[in-house]
Amino acid sequence: MKINTAEFIISNSDVSKCPKEPLPEYAFIGRSNVGKSSLINMLTGNKNLAKTSAKPGKTQLINHFKINQNWFLVDLPGYGYAKVSKKTKEIFQKFITDYFEKREQLVCAFVLIDIRHEAQKIDLEFITYLGETGVPFCIIFTKADKISRTKIDSHVAAYRKALLANNWEEMPQHFVTSSLENTGKDKLLEFIDEINDGIFKNNS
Ligand code: GTP
Ligand code: MG
Repeated sequence: MKINTAEFIISNSDVSKCPKEPLPEYAFIGRSNVGKSSLINMLTGNKNLAKTSAKPGKTQLINHFKINQNWFLVDLPGYGYAKVSKKTKEIFQKFITDYFEKREQLVCAFVLIDIRHEAQKIDLEFITYLGETGVPFCIIFTKADKISRTKIDSHVAAYRKALLANNWEEMPQHFVTSSLENTGKDKLLEFIDEINDGIFKNNS
């Protein structure tokens, strides 16, 4: 799939104010600084679309980007950033969980994991939460440029092991990406395109 247009539509902290159109959407979630906003920019080929920063805590709201005028990419705030005050953290969590529990247009969540690190409790807990909530999701390993190619498979295998130890029966569908080197772009867009095709066929 080729992305011809990608436009910012709206930011907000209230899921009831998200766009009302019944278009499929795909949301990016994961620890602060894992590369959610950078991945949206990589996929759309627009470095300035989603705001990124070397400092964690940059994205603070639910951001809708309309793609090719008929589906959405959604950039979300990260979790697990200790410097956000406790009160703000609670509000983040509430509107993030509201988003996952109430947003009917959400087709698939992409949980981003930094490929360099061992499995972290907070990500495993979030994945369990998505499973319990019945939200379909995939795992996207980010920053693959930061480890040698030969290590990629062993890091993915280690993650699979951690998930199985955490009561998952199988590794969910996953992608390996680097926003710096455009790795994984075609596969991810192809995945989205296939789902969208099924949805649009059923609706017509
Ligand atoms: P929050 O909005 O704070 O939750 O962060 P985020 O997950 O949106 O991360 P963001 O895209 O802002 O990227 C955080 C930092 O990681 C930035 O300095 C990016 O340049 C860097 N980064 C993101 N993706 C990659 C990647 O694939 N490779 C490398 N080397 N750096 C990356
Ligand atoms: Mg961000």
